Amino acid sequence: MLKKILVTAALIALPFGAAQASSGVPNGKNIYAKNCASCHGIDGTVSKFGKDLKPFQARNHRAIAQVVSRNEMRRIITYGVRGTGMRAKKYALDPLEIEAVIDYIQTFDYTPNLANGKKRFEQVCISCHGVDGRSQTGLGAANLVYSKLDLEDIVHTMRHGRSGTLMKANEHQLSNMDINDVAHHVLSLRYKADLKHGQNIFAKSCKSCHATPRDIKLIGNAAQKRSISDLTDQLLDLRIRHGRHVKRAGKGIKNLSPDDVKDLIAFIRE
Ligand code: HEC
Ligand code: HEC
Ligand code: HEC
Repeated sequence: MLKKILVTAALIALPFGAAQASSGVPNGKNIYAKNCASCHGIDGTVSKFGKDLKPFQARNHRAIAQVVSRNEMRRIITYGVRGTGMRAKKYALDPLEIEAVIDYIQTFDYTPNLANGKKRFEQVCISCHGVDGRSQTGLGAANLVYSKLDLEDIVHTMRHGRSGTLMKANEHQLSNMDINDVAHHVLSLRYKADLKHGQNIFAKSCKSCHATPRDIKLIGNAAQKRSISDLTDQLLDLRIRHGRHVKRAGKGIKNLSPDDVKDLIAFIRE
């Protein structure tokens, strides 16, 4: 047994030396070919062997190359994934080799399939987020239409969930292609504020008291230290449509729809 391990170790050690010999900079592609391709496939699409692994098959790298952060990849490659075939000890790369292998993975590209993203979203996500992503299902899910997350953060949320909430990771339920496709679908649901409409609302409902957005003054103790640009969209929305302002501006303010307020705020911020 020991002998076998030693022989394997020697075999692994050899190609590293070779990969580094020429320039001193580790060659990510060579390292990947020697240590990762047997399971992940040299082009990042899982090999036959990788597909047959139990209990979890290896995962596609093409579909995560551009949407999973370098930090996360570094962590996975350094420590492996417990209870799966992804064992860091097997290849034991040094930190420079890990960076090189990530560089190589990041050369992979992937074209998302939006139709599949929509289909999978409707199968897996709408019970909480609704078909339109507005999450008016009463389950306290975040509104995806107004979300500010970028693609990487959407993917991160899908891969890891939010602990203590209904948003679970289901890491092994969706393939990496599905995750990438669904994340692009989620992004496509995002509300695109209509500046022109915002300007019209301002002219109709605000201008009589605030000549321009610049003339709006905050109320209360913190007003001296803060301006509108210090407030998040959500806080600004609250200050416009709820509480004290309704008394000053009249009940008409309350009737603005959430989308109206998005347009309005986009105009104000301009
Ligand atoms: C013996 C097979 C095997 C080898 C060799 C292997 N992996 Fe893996 N890898 C896996 C499996 C299985 C998973 C899926 C783990 C899971 O289900 O979370 C995985 C997952 C990963 C992930 C996370 C993918 C995701 O979608 O979460 C990364 C990144 C990764 N491997 C990189 C590498 C790199 C880089 C190498 C080479 C240095 C390597 N792997 C070598 C089997 C392997
Ligand atoms: C069982 C209910 C449930 C399902 C199913 C569900 N989610 Fe969620 N999701 C939630 C909840 C609840 C939150 C809010 C978590 C929090 O409070 O931070 C959330 C938050 C999110 C967020 C973060 C949004 C933000 O701006 O912070 C994203 C992105 C997301 N979900 C995407 C998805 C996708 C994509 C799917 C399908 C693959 C999905 N969710 C399935 C309940 C669910
Ligand atoms: C009838 C007059 C009136 C109208 C119409 C009005 N406001 Fe105001 N608003 C006020 C007054 C008065 C204040 C108090 C501060 C000041 O004097 O500027 C105020 C304060 C605010 C504040 C700060 C609130 C706070 O809690 O700090 C915001 C933001 C604001 N207005 C936005 C708007 C927007 C956007 C509209 C149009 C949708 C609007 N207002 C329409 C009278 C009005």
